[in-house]
Amino acid sequence: MDTTLKRLVEDRKFLFFGGKGGVGKTTMAAATAVWLADSDYDTLIVATDPTVSLSAIYEQKIGETDITKIDIVKNLCGLNINPKKATGIFQKRLEGMMQSFTSLLGSEVTSTPCAEEMAAFDQFVSFLQDNQYDHVVFDTAPTGHTLRELSMPFDWSGYMSNQIKNRKEVSAALGLIDDEGMLDNLRKEKERYDQAVKSLSDERLSAFNLVLLPEKLPIEETARAVDDLARFGIRVQTLIVNEVIPPEVLKGNWFLERRRATQEKYLGEIAIRFNDTPRRDIPLLETDVYGVEKLRKVARFLYEQ
Ligand SMILES: Nc1ncnc2c1ncn2[C@@H]1O[C@H](COP(=O)(O)OP(=O)(O)OP(=O)(O)O)[C@@H](O)[C@H]1O
Ligand SMILES: [Mg+2]
Repeated sequence: MDTTLKRLVEDRKFLFFGGKGGVGKTTMAAATAVWLADSDYDTLIVATDPTVSLSAIYEQKIGETDITKIDIVKNLCGLNINPKKATGIFQKRLEGMMQSFTSLLGSEVTSTPCAEEMAAFDQFVSFLQDNQYDHVVFDTAPTGHTLRELSMPFDWSGYMSNQIKNRKEVSAALGLIDDEGMLDNLRKEKERYDQAVKSLSDERLSAFNLVLLPEKLPIEETARAVDDLARFGIRVQTLIVNEVIPPEVLKGNWFLERRRATQEKYLGEIAIRFNDTPRRDIPLLETDVYGVEKLRKVARFLYEQ
């Protein structure tokens, strides 16, 4: 048995599953979280995607602002960050930061079109500083979206620097003296984002995995994601090729044989194009995947076979 993915997941605190829409990110993240919890690790799964997928897959309502204990799995909790609700938290924090200074910053930031994403990201960042759980599994949104999220702390970092600089100039011009507390808060925010970026690209802490199907479009999207992540100093650690048709089900069925032959062609292409990246193939199951027992079945393919 190839234990690369198993060791990776056990050794890293923050686990990410990215990839094109609909390829099985939530399934892999949720199965991984169950497997870690079953292996006695205190585990939290966080969705940064504004959908109800986590609640559906665990067959239980998962909180949007408060962490929810998953009833039937010991050691497992979940949170489904709702960007709309997160905006409130984000806004509150900004307001807190700004209270000593009548500032444009709060209204500027909270009224930008991407304020919701920023707010979700802001919450996401707070989990990169977690010291309560052994593992935090992130069910990220589709690739383009995820990358925008990832690029945010970089922008933020520059933004904070500018704010700090501007604040100094403004307060000097206005002769304000009581500005130090506010500057201090901005500095702390900047440090917080810088730290988050460090955690994301620190291979001892974080593991990025991409999920794809053995098909043309997901392969192209994966290639782009690998390059984009590399630009942020993040190496993709494993490719999970999902929904591979097992040869034993073919039994002379021309339709399945045709599909399998197509998949084989793309599996060959994946082997060549991503030959540096360890890969795990997961079979297409006879049903869709929800509920803890089916997640455990997927986890066995991921970590035990
Ligand atoms: N190996 C598999 N065998 C059978 N069905 C699968 C398998 N993997 C995933 N599925 C099913 O495929 C569908 C899509 O999976 P999932 O929701 O995990 O994808 P996703 O990448 O998270 O999608 P989105 O981009 O919308 O968040 C689900 O209905 C899931 O049950
Ligand atoms: Mg999903």
